[in-house]
Amino acid sequence: IGNNEGDTNSLPIPKLLKDRNPDPDVAEFYLEAQHATKEFFTGEKTNTYGYNGNYLGPIIQVRNGEKVKIKVKNELDDPTTVHWHGLEVPGEMDGGPHQEIYPGQTWEPNFTINQPAATLWYHPHLLHKTGEQVFKGLAGLFYIEDEVSDDLNIPNEYGENDIPLVVQDRRFTSDNQFDYNIGMRDMMTGILGDTILVNGAIQPSLEISEAKVRFRILNGSNARIYNFYLSDDMPFYQIASDGGFLESPVKLSNLELSPGERAEVIVDFSKADIGDQIELRSDDFEVMRFKVKSKNNNIDLPQELVKINKIPEEQATVKRSFDFQGMGPMVSINGKQFNMERIDEHLDLNATEIWEVTNSASGMGGMGRMGNVGHPFHAHGTQFQILERNGQTPPPNERGWKDTFLVYPGEKVKVIAQFKYPGMFMYHCHILEHEDAGMMGQFQVG
Ligand code: C2O
Ligand code: CU
Ligand code: CU
Repeated sequence: IGNNEGDTNSLPIPKLLKDRNPDPDVAEFYLEAQHATKEFFTGEKTNTYGYNGNYLGPIIQVRNGEKVKIKVKNELDDPTTVHWHGLEVPGEMDGGPHQEIYPGQTWEPNFTINQPAATLWYHPHLLHKTGEQVFKGLAGLFYIEDEVSDDLNIPNEYGENDIPLVVQDRRFTSDNQFDYNIGMRDMMTGILGDTILVNGAIQPSLEISEAKVRFRILNGSNARIYNFYLSDDMPFYQIASDGGFLESPVKLSNLELSPGERAEVIVDFSKADIGDQIELRSDDFEVMRFKVKSKNNNIDLPQELVKINKIPEEQATVKRSFDFQGMGPMVSINGKQFNMERIDEHLDLNATEIWEVTNSASGMGGMGRMGNVGHPFHAHGTQFQILERNGQTPPPNERGWKDTFLVYPGEKVKVIAQFKYPGMFMYHCHILEHEDAGMMGQFQVG
């Protein structure tokens, strides 16, 4: 991965999508999946996909309790779908592989938001094509706000001190086009790019003028697992996981995020000096950098954020096990590869269930870590609470709502959830090349 030489472009801030309905209780949005070109490299055009633009999409911001209608138009030459990752809605509105939108057609889901403030996202989920469509640029963030997110004493001015960071790695051909030619190595690990993009710009920089800034980080990569840290050992505080705020801020020196996972963090730049450049790094490469211009408005962090009611374990009526197996083109869950005609699990509406997810895919001699990958487990239509990771209480930043969690070989993660919406939903590995190869199943609720 190329390292930044210091001369960087500035971080693009995505637009907030305009609500087209004047009624304050109803929000109406328009999204268009389209072809475009973008200059990732000066003077060079790359063919891309985007929503309402040339790469990625606008941020859809809604409130808990609000009625939401979205029109999604497909202007691509291929079918697509739009899935609301992390959103709790009926199966028909979920945008999984069953809700195909053909070229030229419009899909009009509507739902009522019924979950706490959180940073979710949306992306295509077309059978066998999810990886390619996301890679070319189809993804965007989906914010839910509520009274808690309004009133907490945390940075919440969008684009000022509340900044989205969509982190992706991409591979380009020698003529600067996206290189999504999947070889055997890519089938093993998922595609790993050598160019890091944040909000669609290569290793950008952001000027910081406040002491504390909130970053909403999405690992929007197809396959890369990041282990984020800041240069100069600067600490940061995680305040939210996939499905909402944690009970209290968790001080971290590094943060592991697998594909599909989100974390909201607050960085305390009061520890830096004006003129400093602080790098956000992962492993041995730079992701982006922060240039400290001035610092004011030093707010203390609240010690308590929200109260998360634990789902009582005794309420669970069913226990299920999911085991990640195989590798490369043979990846499976419980020995089965995805089949759209087969329903893998039947759940009762409103059931509370305990799911145990294991990864028994073992390393292959001679291939080093290649055959030995962690798989991020994700399920649609609900948010989990992690009960145990390898028999232990999970780490503090995994004690909130999660819809995606990483399971390394030999690990066992035990989670609990309620299934409040009827319909057909997916569960899968969020390494998109694994999902597309068949590491996915479906469950019917009700
Ligand atoms: Cu983010 Cu089934 O996906
Ligand atoms: Cu999802
Ligand atoms: Cu996987």
